[in-house]
Amino acid sequence: MFYRQANIKNLLFLLVCITVLVVTTLLFTLGDIRRTVVGRTSDNWTSSLQINRTHNVAMGVHKLPQNQQSTKCLALKDIPHLVDSRPMNLTAGIPMYELERTIFPDHPERIRDVVSRGNRKLQRLVYTAAANVSLINGSRIMEGLASLQVRSGDYRYLPGGHWRPASCIPRWKVAIVVPFRNRTVQLSIFLRYMIPFLQKQQLEFAIYIVNQESDNSFNRGMLLNVGFLEALNFSHWDCFVFHDVDHLPLSEFNPYGCVDLPRHFIGGADNRQYKVPPWASMGGVCGFTTPQFWQINGVANVYWGWCCEDDDLKVRVRMARLKRTRYKGTIGYYKTISIHHEKIKKGVKRLERRNRKLLKTLRSRVKTDGLTNLKYDRPHLELHALYTNISVKIHRS
Ligand SMILES: *[C@@H]1O[C@H](CO)[C@@H](O)[C@H](O)[C@H]1NC(C)=O
Ligand SMILES: *[C@@H]1O[C@H](CO)[C@@H](O)[C@H](O)[C@H]1NC(C)=O
Ligand SMILES: *[C@@H]1O[C@H](CO)[C@@H](O)[C@H](O)[C@H]1NC(C)=O
Ligand SMILES: *[C@@H]1O[C@H](CO)[C@@H](O)[C@H](O)[C@H]1NC(C)=O
Ligand SMILES: *[C@@H]1O[C@H](CO)[C@@H](O)[C@H](O)[C@H]1NC(C)=O
Ligand SMILES: *[C@@H]1O[C@H](CO)[C@@H](O)[C@H](O)[C@H]1NC(C)=O
Ligand SMILES: *[C@@H]1O[C@H](CO)[C@@H](O)[C@H](O)[C@H]1NC(C)=O
Ligand SMILES: *[C@@H]1O[C@H](CO)[C@@H](O)[C@H](O)[C@H]1NC(C)=O
Repeated sequence: MFYRQANIKNLLFLLVCITVLVVTTLLFTLGDIRRTVVGRTSDNWTSSLQINRTHNVAMGVHKLPQNQQSTKCLALKDIPHLVDSRPMNLTAGIPMYELERTIFPDHPERIRDVVSRGNRKLQRLVYTAAANVSLINGSRIMEGLASLQVRSGDYRYLPGGHWRPASCIPRWKVAIVVPFRNRTVQLSIFLRYMIPFLQKQQLEFAIYIVNQESDNSFNRGMLLNVGFLEALNFSHWDCFVFHDVDHLPLSEFNPYGCVDLPRHFIGGADNRQYKVPPWASMGGVCGFTTPQFWQINGVANVYWGWCCEDDDLKVRVRMARLKRTRYKGTIGYYKTISIHHEKIKKGVKRLERRNRKLLKTLRSRVKTDGLTNLKYDRPHLELHALYTNISVKIHRS
């Protein structure tokens, strides 16, 4: 009897506690949603670049002849012949012109011609016509280049490695942003593998290599921020996948469209026995929708050298109350290209210690360090057949 009463009391107490908890969480969440919405509309740097799919479809590349394009491309689960472990060749890179011949077997010269015309047009658009190309009549660089499109296989191709399915309307427009310095051999392996991989998923996509020109330590975070802003000058992207050049996804079921974002794409890699602890950061490959990336103020700029921008990113996501996903099992498996790493320079350890110290105070910097305070020299933009090179000098501010 006594026990039962005590149990009922405990139960009641527990119920009250849970109710209080649920109600407070709800109130907080509501407040948060309201703040986000209000924040977005009143915030002038976000409002100018909001994505608007109807708007996208109505203009530029999307305005091109829609002859057989009445149907949507397939959802990933309906695409036939996807495999769980795509064959790959990691042995050596091939020269870029040879690689172009494998991607465009029928007409590599024609592509080279289109690309050089694209570059001339780009120079006119960016450097002479207006300093303001990103905002000319609400248009983007790719819309200025739309007349140069070429049919290549099942795809429409635009200079700078921008692809779009020819016979269906893609479900997603995805920018792949690759922070880069000096890893030319890895880049050629990466492109040879990734372009057919992304094509198979019937996406509209382009690959942006963000090349750090300055010779100081690598700043991956800052390069991702630059890649994000500059890619949005080229086109209206639905989402971004930030991708290290030495990681390749094994499974074709790993969606590179804008689903389950923000996502840490790596659910296991060969260099770590395909194990990822649940608390791991968002390093290597991660993705965001465009509004999500604005919302978290991009990546931190303060980490120079090895470490910590990915740990910082994980906390930004949590602070914005976004849910980070990561796929379990073979779907998230990656292979790493281990050849031709940059030599580890002296001073790396010292920088890492500094970064780890900075990491402790990251919460106070989320609003002030990221897209909002990013400063960089105007980048050198160059279209290549298989990618766009955004080459940039970045400085400590
Ligand atoms: C953005 O808004 C702030 C304050 O609301 C204002 O000071 C600033 O001039 C605005 N910037 C632009 C480009 O409109
Ligand atoms: C999206 O763009 C279209 C065309 O410019 C416009 O009519 C519509 O109001 C926009 N929608 C939103 C939600 O901004
Ligand atoms: C892998 O690629 C290299 C360089 O293109 C080539 O020499 C080699 O034959 C390829 N290996 C296989 C198994 O395809
Ligand atoms: C850029 O665009 C803004 C707004 O459209 C305009 O006020 C400004 O004068 C332009 N700047 C240049 C250099 O064309
Ligand atoms: C912007 O739009 C106006 C009016 O439609 C047009 O006359 C002008 O040429 C356009 N500017 C550019 C750079 O496309
Ligand atoms: C990049 O490679 C070039 C040529 O191999 C070398 O001179 C330069 O120091 C390298 N830069 C960095 C930052 O490693
Ligand atoms: C691209 O966009 C950034 C910021 O949105 C702007 O500062 C820069 O001038 C633009 N670059 C070009 C080439 O239009
Ligand atoms: C990108 O452009 C810079 C500057 O022109 C150049 O040094 C670098 O090699 C280029 N990188 C790639 C991958 O094309």
